[in-house]
Amino acid sequence: MTIIVTGGAGFIGSNFVYLQLKEHPEDRIICLDKLTYAGNLSTLQEAMEHPNFRFIKADIADRAAVEQLFEQEHPDIVVNFAAESHVDRSIENPGIFLQTNIMGTQVLMDACRKYGIQRYHQVSTDEVYGDLPLDRPDLFFTEDTPIHTSSPYSSSKAGADLLVLAYYRTFGLPVSITRCSNNYGPYHFPEKLIPLMISRALADEALPVYGKGENVRDWLYVEDHCKAIDLVMRKGRAGEVYNVGGHNERTNLEVVKTILKELGKPESLITFVTDRPGHDMRYAIDPTKIHSELGWLPETKFEDGIRQTIQWYLDNKKWWQDIISGEYQNYFDQYYRQKGRVDQ
Ligand SMILES: NC(=O)c1ccc[n+]([C@@H]2O[C@H](COP(=O)([O-])OP(=O)(O)OC[C@H]3O[C@@H](n4cnc5c(N)ncnc54)[C@H](O)[C@@H]3O)[C@@H](O)[C@H]2O)c1
Repeated sequence: MTIIVTGGAGFIGSNFVYLQLKEHPEDRIICLDKLTYAGNLSTLQEAMEHPNFRFIKADIADRAAVEQLFEQEHPDIVVNFAAESHVDRSIENPGIFLQTNIMGTQVLMDACRKYGIQRYHQVSTDEVYGDLPLDRPDLFFTEDTPIHTSSPYSSSKAGADLLVLAYYRTFGLPVSITRCSNNYGPYHFPEKLIPLMISRALADEALPVYGKGENVRDWLYVEDHCKAIDLVMRKGRAGEVYNVGGHNERTNLEVVKTILKELGKPESLITFVTDRPGHDMRYAIDPTKIHSELGWLPETKFEDGIRQTIQWYLDNKKWWQDIISGEYQNYFDQYYRQKGRVDQ
């Protein structure tokens, strides 16, 4: 099978590439990524050594580049991780979120229609459901929860989801969607909560926490998410949405305190800062459907996953320090293009 993985140089996409190469080494994996600020080619260094892996630097919204790739590779599956993904950035500049997250999705699905495909899989987020009140711990998002977005980011993801389902209904394109809660684990870009707090705590810098740190997120270890996507894109029903989450709800403050405790750093590093506009209060996923239909269950408990993640950041300081210094953006030029190992 040939699988195009878009956004594979980002956090979840790169973990997915490694899972595929490990669990399905017979499949050919083509990573298409624009290498925005969030894409880091050094993350894929090991994958580059694999004979069944190819990297292409391109924009998912570039129709000519996408069609050329389909003509060359005749993919069986396309799984779309490529997105602008940071809520704070979407508040600063919504336009690029609509361009990549909605228009890019359209270009990919048009190519799937034109060249034929077994499955187009859209990686989406629980943020499309909006948020839940803190005083109703009995409420969870199911696949039937209405779309009710808060930020330009979640609105762009919701717009893409609606388009994906419309392509199923209107054109019969075999699509599926997973909507997952917050991920954590290796290769997480250091602007996001958990890696940001780890890197700042290690440098004894203040840890900025929005509001009172009461916002609740349902944390899932990234490998568990990748396994869920793998199951759905290969065995899930076409035209269906599957929620993915691990019943691992924690307030942001609890997460930050856990990190400080694991690193042996004082809680006095915590600094509360003005809340993000429109900040969602609580996300909580009901994963009954993916469990009952496909047998998926999360394998990593939060306590174990966060310890493994902290250890990974301790063992891979160069990876995130190069990001903080901006050095990672030279990686493409310095290494891969010189060796002629990537297409552009
Ligand atoms: N991080 C989470 O907790 C989480 C949770 C649920 C769903 N998601 C979804 O999962 C997907 C991946 O998230 P992530 O956290 O790995 O994101 P990320 O920001 O780490 O990575 C995004 C990747 O997409 C690439 N990209 C961006 N625009 C592109 C374009 N126009 N063309 C080609 N490539 C482009 C970037 O270079 C980067 O490699 C996103 O669709 C996101 O909405 C993320």
